[in-house]
Amino acid sequence: MRIDILTCVPALLESFFAHSILKRAQQAGHAEVKVHDIRDYSTNKHRTIDDYAFGGGAGMVMQIEPIARCIQALQAERVYDEIIYLTPDGALLNQKAVNQLSLKGNLILLCGHYKGVDQRVRDLFVTREISIGDYVLSGGELAAAVLADDIIRLVPGVLYDETSALTDSFQDNLLAPPVYTRPADYEGHKVPDILMSGHEAKIEEWRYEQALKRTRERRPDLLD
Ligand code: 6GU
Repeated sequence: MRIDILTCVPALLESFFAHSILKRAQQAGHAEVKVHDIRDYSTNKHRTIDDYAFGGGAGMVMQIEPIARCIQALQAERVYDEIIYLTPDGALLNQKAVNQLSLKGNLILLCGHYKGVDQRVRDLFVTREISIGDYVLSGGELAAAVLADDIIRLVPGVLYDETSALTDSFQDNLLAPPVYTRPADYEGHKVPDILMSGHEAKIEEWRYEQALKRTRERRPDLLD
């Protein structure tokens, strides 16, 4: 799995991928994340990559040429399965889409800023548009970080225990059940007896019931 992220604020993303599970995944060779500065593909001395919107209105628009040059340079190196534009008017991200994307080989994630990118970037290059929720961020970088994290943790070998990803919330349209660890008794607040029973089948049944109860209470829409 290789993910190339195109942004005009690379510093926002670099530290994110230099830590935790994502760092380990890259060191172990399970995934490769490369962040590219779109400004490196500007041809003017001020390294600008945006301009006023035709037709007027507030806000700058990211120009097609630097983005096109960056994408074409990457495409000269390898074939990409998807070129994803992170945008609040994209399709809402969910676990099913993440599962699909985790099976791909090479992805480009394009982060917009300001008023977004020239529509021709979307028409000519982008194969998929994704939003991470019904709220507006100041740029696509956080959304790209969310998406990359979500995809990479599903790549085989990245999590210690691969069954762990299967019991995540949403993986079967159910929220995850409650979990407990030591101490078994915190100031009189005890762990449910069933979890201490050692009875595997009963524990699984309890977890399933709890997942169902939580989902019914908090996210009944998932059960429809
Ligand atoms: Cl992908 N981008 C921006 N700018 N805002 C968002 C978003 C993306 N997803 C939700 N809000």
